[in-house]
Amino acid sequence: MCHIKRSFSFQKLLSINVSNPFRPTANHSISNGLGRHYNCSSRSLSSKMAPTRKWWQTATIYELYPSSFADSNGDGVGDIPGIISRIPYLASIGINAVWLAACNKSSGVDMGYDVSDYRDIDSQYGTVNDMEKLIAELGKHHISLIMDMVVNHTSSEHAWFKESRSSTTNPKRNWYIWRKGITMRSPDGQLKRYPPNNWESIFKGSAWEYDERTDEYYLRMFAKQQPDLNWDCEELREAVFREMRFWLDKGVAGFRMDVINMISKPESLPDAPVSNDKSAVQKADDLVCNGPRVHEYIQKMRREVFDRYPDSVSIGEVICTGQVDRIRQYVEPDRRELDMVYTYDLFGLDCGPHGKFTRRPWVLSELKSNVTKWQLELFENAWQTIWLESHDSGRSVTRFGDGTQENREKVAKMLAMLTSTLQGTLFIYQGQEIGMANLSPEIPISEYPDVETQNTWNEMLRSRAESAGISEPEVDMSDALKEAHLKARDHARAPLPWTSEPPHSGFSTATGKTWSPMNTDSHVCNIAAQQQDPNSVLNFWRKRLQIRKKYPEALVYGSFEPVSSTMNDEPIFAYWRKPLPGVEKARGQENDGNRDVLVLLNLTANDGVEFELPISCEGKRERYFVLDSTAGMTEGLKVRESGLVSSMEKVKLEAYQGVVLGF
Ligand code: GLC
Ligand code: CA
Repeated sequence: MCHIKRSFSFQKLLSINVSNPFRPTANHSISNGLGRHYNCSSRSLSSKMAPTRKWWQTATIYELYPSSFADSNGDGVGDIPGIISRIPYLASIGINAVWLAACNKSSGVDMGYDVSDYRDIDSQYGTVNDMEKLIAELGKHHISLIMDMVVNHTSSEHAWFKESRSSTTNPKRNWYIWRKGITMRSPDGQLKRYPPNNWESIFKGSAWEYDERTDEYYLRMFAKQQPDLNWDCEELREAVFREMRFWLDKGVAGFRMDVINMISKPESLPDAPVSNDKSAVQKADDLVCNGPRVHEYIQKMRREVFDRYPDSVSIGEVICTGQVDRIRQYVEPDRRELDMVYTYDLFGLDCGPHGKFTRRPWVLSELKSNVTKWQLELFENAWQTIWLESHDSGRSVTRFGDGTQENREKVAKMLAMLTSTLQGTLFIYQGQEIGMANLSPEIPISEYPDVETQNTWNEMLRSRAESAGISEPEVDMSDALKEAHLKARDHARAPLPWTSEPPHSGFSTATGKTWSPMNTDSHVCNIAAQQQDPNSVLNFWRKRLQIRKKYPEALVYGSFEPVSSTMNDEPIFAYWRKPLPGVEKARGQENDGNRDVLVLLNLTANDGVEFELPISCEGKRERYFVLDSTAGMTEGLKVRESGLVSSMEKVKLEAYQGVVLGF
């Protein structure tokens, strides 16, 4: 999903920062080179210090994609017994919770995000008993299980929908969104039936599906087999809450709530404004997201479900929303809605106006300011997530790196250093811990199984052919191909390479193909090899998670302060993380503990990038030393035997090098 609002710019960041009531109190400021100043003293003691700290704040949550993790029975599809057999591996990474992507019984159109029975497990993954066993076995390693809960829509195979579609008078008719079509004269003078409004499905085409039996249309914002539930119906809401409690009663620690900001649609279902005058259907993001009653419904869910299970966690997926004020409404603790949400704001940076397979050129300052925006704006009285990959994204090493094999490990480690030094709850997506890259370009798009990829691709092909008056094979799709190689969801869904051995790199013993193409690079990227290599990406991640756990006051709860001289298009991104006032701070190389740290990241493949260390935020000249680095010492520190370097001296960073400094 990539129809992201970009209501944000670097310029705006600066002005937000100046007027932000939570900004640090001024006692020292540095010019950012653009005529504005960042204040960079410590923030006042925030509610983060309040006694409401929760286990999930310091937790690292591992998103596990069941189809592609481990296949125990050789059918080419991952399954729950496969996961159970690999729990020691999960524990060894140092994670605290697994978010298991959709695994309920499903009609399999959108990889489980079309649920046909919330109380059952899809038979390709196992049974409810297997899930119970998984919860228990993970528990032995102190790992919680978070399930995916997909309740904006069900599958058209769900018993609720079957009843609903059976007649206009069925008691469950109102559980879905049904409307009569509009009959109008078409341009050729014929009377024709049209959908109730002009909304476009996120998976392309009209968002309405005609159902002959009752001569009405149902709304489906995703595939036609994914009818949207009608949350305005109280009976339906109660039914959903019961399904959620079913799993909490079995011991799941909480839910990741799929597209939860879509559950309330405006009652009159108005047409969306025309954004593409060549199309009969129009993007309806602003109407279907963050609708009129969404907060009322989530608050109700909180009271009826999560509040009854102390310590449970709720994580919302919020799409098409880059506005901080909107996001705050979901996560400010007093509003009693969700514990945290994740947005796609950062992932819109490289998406063009016509969706994810179109390009938007972007510059480094946008990436830096996007990260900074959320770090600053959700710091006070809110909680946030940190993530660079999920089952809906491309792989971060490919998307944010230079795509070369030479730099791949460096990029993976630098991104690990970035995410593990940000404020919030850290998410890792399966395979990210070994620096998996996107599928290699020789695998044709026709072999990508994702319904979104296929529909988006076919729709682009069709509309390009139509507007150019040529046949589909004549259409030039090279630009779209490039974007699909970066952003298709299929990249994240490739099975995990446990070894380099044929036929399927230890993922499966299937004699035929795996359900989704394996990547062709398991000889250079697999778990077994990385287990043995002390300098592997995997072992780097392990270390990062240990450090994060050891110094939560600085790395999880501490303040984030960008070094303003790096908020530009230059390679270095530098920021401070500092324990809040009141926390005892360690000083000096010999001392252990939470301390102010300066993170320096070279976001580019340029070698030998020079950077003048800033004087400390207190305005003091300090002597820095290296606490952690993705690749040995930096030039500048290397030359000094003591490993110390003074502020205002220069250090040199290698391509994609990351360093954490302290004093
Ligand atoms: C969410 C899921 C995605 C799915 C969509 C529809 O974005 O993460 O995989 O296709 O919702 O349920
Ligand atoms: Ca299997």
